[in-house]
Amino acid sequence: MLTVAVLISGTGSNLRALLEAAADPGFPARVVVVGADRQADGFAHAEAFGIPTFLVPFRDFETREHWGEELDRQLRVWKPDLIVLSGLMRLLPASVVDAWSPRLINTHPAYLPEFPGAHGVRDALAAGATRTGASVIVVDNGVDSGPILAQERVEVLPDDTEHTLHERIKPVERRLLIDVVRAIARGELELTAFSTS
Ligand code: GRF
Repeated sequence: MLTVAVLISGTGSNLRALLEAAADPGFPARVVVVGADRQADGFAHAEAFGIPTFLVPFRDFETREHWGEELDRQLRVWKPDLIVLSGLMRLLPASVVDAWSPRLINTHPAYLPEFPGAHGVRDALAAGATRTGASVIVVDNGVDSGPILAQERVEVLPDDTEHTLHERIKPVERRLLIDVVRAIARGELELTAFSTS
């Protein structure tokens, strides 16, 4: 059974989908802990599924490196086989990426390498793209620049707002994330083949 830690910052809808998938006894992975950099609404999903949580508030640390050291310490307690960044709105320091990659994956609401960064949906709209997408990648030390594990196109509709477009992308992100986690757990996807260092 593949053990998974999930890191969030927000509502955790992708986390929720993964928890629901993992509740199926036939699913080959289990979420063992959910962590966040702030008091995230998504903690409620973890609690609903009886999954432990930890909070490492970014604002409590003087530097990103110190925050990362504490995050890493918390993750090591749980010894997860895989860490999923699911809407974690912070860049991890290189020390954390180097410690865990390639067993560290991220979901992104655009068709990478198009529109990396914190505003992938907004940037696609601003660029006038007629299609964007969703991606699951291995985290490296760049911004959304790691090896792509799965991705799928999503059409942009003429009257789309950032919200409506993001709400259409998110179900695709969820499906891709669940497929990738399942494939890793079954050994169909070998993360060592995507080593980033
Ligand atoms: C997802 O689109 C994720 O890729 C992006 O933020 C969103 C998180 O949504 N970085 P949620 O917290 O899972 O609802």
